[in-house]
Amino acid sequence: MERTYLMVKPDGVQRNLAGEIISRFEKRGFKIIGLKMFKITRDLAEKHYGEHVGKPFFEPLVDFITSGPVVAMVIEGKNAISAAREMMGATDPLKAAPGTIRNSFGIDMGRNVIHGSDSPASAAREIGLFFKEEELVVYNRDL
Ligand code: CMP
Repeated sequence: MERTYLMVKPDGVQRNLAGEIISRFEKRGFKIIGLKMFKITRDLAEKHYGEHVGKPFFEPLVDFITSGPVVAMVIEGKNAISAAREMMGATDPLKAAPGTIRNSFGIDMGRNVIHGSDSPASAAREIGLFFKEEELVVYNRDL
């Protein structure tokens, strides 16, 4: 079992796409173990996107991700990191495969509606950055 960090970005929340996006992960069989809505502070955004410091899109990216609420979640399941990335599609919605989340809803490279961790190391780092251990719910889904 693997965990990954996913975040519906401010454009997705503003366009009422959060439910649809969460639903795709539920229907795919992933277990949501953490879920919350909040506005990211500049400090947290700069930490989260630390690997992009100095790139031309860094400041606009921080401005955008702090511009409105996000819906953050931690999902758990088999190959969660790579499966979620496949479901999201390429960063650039124009290059995202048909049917993926970014292909279906993304507008451009910045307004690409969702972020997902790209590796086990990023997943561990991002889950720790956005969720406290006690906010992750351990439960059995079997009815
Ligand atoms: P995300 O998966 O959240 O990770 C970094 C974000 O930077 C990316 O999605 C894009 O929304 C944004 N971005 C903007 N411009 C670029 C670019 N030229 N290359 C990569 N990411 C970009």
